[in-house]
Amino acid sequence: MRSTQRSVDEVAEHNKAMWERLAKAAMNYTRPFGRPPRTRAGMRRFMDPRGRLKGVRLAGAHVLGLAAGGGWDPVIFAKLGAQTTVFDISPTQLKTVKDLAARQRVKIRLVRGNMKDLSVFKDASFDVVWHCHSLVFVDDAVRVLREVGRVLAPGGTYLLSTMHPTTLRLYGSYKHGGWSPKISYFEDKPVPYTDEWGMTWTLGKKKLVAPTIEFGHRFETIVNGMAAAGMVVDGIWEFSPGDDDEETEPGSDAHLDTLFPAFIEVRGRKLPLPARR
Ligand SMILES: C[S@@+](CC[C@H](N)C(=O)[O-])C[C@H]1O[C@@H](n2cnc3c(N)ncnc32)[C@H](O)[C@@H]1O
Repeated sequence: MRSTQRSVDEVAEHNKAMWERLAKAAMNYTRPFGRPPRTRAGMRRFMDPRGRLKGVRLAGAHVLGLAAGGGWDPVIFAKLGAQTTVFDISPTQLKTVKDLAARQRVKIRLVRGNMKDLSVFKDASFDVVWHCHSLVFVDDAVRVLREVGRVLAPGGTYLLSTMHPTTLRLYGSYKHGGWSPKISYFEDKPVPYTDEWGMTWTLGKKKLVAPTIEFGHRFETIVNGMAAAGMVVDGIWEFSPGDDDEETEPGSDAHLDTLFPAFIEVRGRKLPLPARR
């Protein structure tokens, strides 16, 4: 394992400590939940249920799981025949992937570092960059996207999922019958917490205070950042997990998720694209 961190990045250091805390307590996003099917199609559906990588060849492809420690995804890429690298700031999140890869008898390269600096990787060295639920943990999304564009090979695919920038500003803000944003849409600073201790993560009955610092990067930051990094955006999706018909407590975050999307997904392709036959 190599570290690519150079100068002190206080946000990254804080969030690394929080992810170590979360991982040691086995909270969400730090354990390989569920069991993927054995078939190739089943594995792809398990990892990519909305089919964002449809048509992308994975066997033999070079795949980077960016900030993808703690779960199944890198292991499934490897089982599908990809030469897989997982990059994450948290040693415990990486170890979880290492142990799972050993149990599943696949090889994965593990690299520890801050996603703002991918200099450990050469230009154009990946066909796919898979980046789920972690851009919120960095202050400078444009810098991360520039790095992603650099390491992607021409025609390569980038799949980003992260928190919806509007909804993130509204969680926990319900008062007097309505939600009000904790910061304006136009402010790029961290979104403040509303609970007493900072931020409490829950998993079933388990509760853990781990106040990660989170940024709701705006659509224009992401799309323009990808364009500046040499990518063309060929898909944007907004969605919430769960069932819209489910009863939710009025004013709860789950209720908000039925009214506004929790997450966004943005897909980019690195230019120049291969010529169409
Ligand atoms: C929500 S988890 C995502 C885990 C996995 N990708 C998934 O979807 O299950 C966020 C991950 O981002 C990592 N992370 C946070 N800040 C980071 C940074 N600056 N550079 C690299 N990884 C970071 C954490 O260690 C954690 O593993």
